[in-house]
Amino acid sequence: MNALSQDVSASAAGSRLPALNDWVAQVAALTRPDSIRWCDGSDAESEALVAKMQADGTLLPLNADTHPNSWLHRSHPDDVARVEHLTFVCTSEQDDAGPNNHWMAPADGHAQMDALFDGCMQGRTMYVVPYCMGPIDSPLARCGVEITDSPYVVANMGIMTRMGAQALARIEREGTFVKGLHSIGELDPNRRYIMHFPEELTIKSFGSGYGGNALLGKKCHALRIASHQAKSEGWLAEHMLILGIENPQGETHYVAAAFPSACGKTNLAMLIPPEGYRSAGWKVWTIGDDICWMRPGADGRLYAINPEAGFFGVAPGTSAKSNPNALKSIQRNTIFTNVGVTADNQPWWEGLDNGQVPVTDWRGEAYDAAKRPAAHPNSRFTVSAKQCPSYSEKAEDAQGVPISAIVFGGRRASLVPLVFEARDWTHGVLVGAAMGSETTAAATGAVGVMRRDPMAMKPFCGYNFADYFSHWLSFDNGAAQLPKVFHVNWFRKSDEGKFLWPGFGDNLRVLEWMIGRVKGEAGAVETPIGHLPAVTDLNLDGVELSDEGKDKLFGFDQGAWQAEFASIGEYLDEYGPRMPQALKDEQQRIARL
Ligand code: GTP
Ligand code: MN
Ligand code: MN
Repeated sequence: MNALSQDVSASAAGSRLPALNDWVAQVAALTRPDSIRWCDGSDAESEALVAKMQADGTLLPLNADTHPNSWLHRSHPDDVARVEHLTFVCTSEQDDAGPNNHWMAPADGHAQMDALFDGCMQGRTMYVVPYCMGPIDSPLARCGVEITDSPYVVANMGIMTRMGAQALARIEREGTFVKGLHSIGELDPNRRYIMHFPEELTIKSFGSGYGGNALLGKKCHALRIASHQAKSEGWLAEHMLILGIENPQGETHYVAAAFPSACGKTNLAMLIPPEGYRSAGWKVWTIGDDICWMRPGADGRLYAINPEAGFFGVAPGTSAKSNPNALKSIQRNTIFTNVGVTADNQPWWEGLDNGQVPVTDWRGEAYDAAKRPAAHPNSRFTVSAKQCPSYSEKAEDAQGVPISAIVFGGRRASLVPLVFEARDWTHGVLVGAAMGSETTAAATGAVGVMRRDPMAMKPFCGYNFADYFSHWLSFDNGAAQLPKVFHVNWFRKSDEGKFLWPGFGDNLRVLEWMIGRVKGEAGAVETPIGHLPAVTDLNLDGVELSDEGKDKLFGFDQGAWQAEFASIGEYLDEYGPRMPQALKDEQQRIARL
């Protein structure tokens, strides 16, 4: 027996599940690490990992007085965002992946990935990371194991998921788990792929250490693989925040909202009510800021959990004014990735607006505003959800929370009003399917280009969008008590290019109207695109809106919407005969008006 196989068999003591041990042994034989570490999620383990990363420069300590136990990580400058052009869904039939995904035959995908993984962990430690997505005792939760050679990934997974011994115990009990294999490789963009094998519940990711590419529990498992699982098991895995709105009477309604990356999910999830609302007793509770798994309960309502345990939030623009709860969450025990630092080593980013100035930029060079921003536009913080002042204990509830409203939204400078309500579930599915948004820095590529991003799932749906919409439509059966569906646009601009809606905390005014609609109390005007509030249907006390603002935020422009519906029709047709007829009928019914 050679040294490697001894190492592997010694580590097999880590699990009582032969299928897991076998897979770990196979991966070790392929990647040839120097050693294998089964992660237990203990504090001692986390401290040892941090010490190791501090020693090798992966983590730089930040000012311990202002930001205790917090760290800066500088990623490779070519590795700062998700890479959609290098992300594949490998299903046996190409049509099952759909025009919305890059596809490769599973055998080809494995061959290509295994060639990259061959020997890639020589000289490195291989970490075996068992994790649970969702409260550990929740029937809605699902488990996975990520194998990685990146201690930074292990540290982030430790914050973002329920990681370690308890997850392993559940995996041993259930016998099934998602297999995620990850290596940073050489961080070479030409040797980088993120591949998903949904039929095998397997992920292989090589060449990137960036969150969405490397923390496999998050986008790869909780969205791409889970959406596929959810289709066959009758539930939904969505790119949605979940929040609770408590009114002055103490009643709480839960809302799930899908906005594309960097379009305001984390902000809305942590909303602080504006002054008049706060004093009247309104509260907003955070359940999740990025991912929502939901399924019908015995009473026919949709019940939702946040599969994550932490926030991987966009740093730039986060300030005491825009998102005080996020700012309070990240004062300690936080990993900052690709932000700038001040002279006294505090983290800094554009829009922090705390009177300090950066001296070093995210690449570790002297800050020069003419050269590049101090923080990368997609720089992030990783922090436990428990540190958020508005975090709800209901987020730990195994049964999840009942959803009263589903909200879709995008970044639309023109056309789309502040809010409207879909007539019924089928119309709501069309509203989600037709979502468009201007692209952001969260993925590589041009910024500010309008693209269709149905339900904010364009980068994340692990199967054919046509089948995904059919799956959504299928929830409308006799037994269901479905939530109302809405669409919002916080990003409507004036002719001068300024945002017309104040946004942030004031978005509660729009949420209040939605809950009023759910309860049958709030007014609305019927239009071909759905029910729009009149200006007087929203509580706008303390909000200054220009006449242009009122027109554009609450108006419906028939001619412009006709053009939009023509383009939505063309989009649905790209999916051919697989696109559900009910959705095409709905589009045509509205297009004729
Ligand atoms: P991912 O975490 O990448 O999925 O994105 P996210 O949807 O959580 O995005 P996030 O909340 O971090 O959005 C960040 C961007 O949206 C920043 O540029 C914010 O300033 C902007 N933003 C959020 N809410 C509002 C709002 O109500 N109005 C305006 N104008 N901008 C907003
Ligand atoms: Mn996201
Ligand atoms: Mn976010």
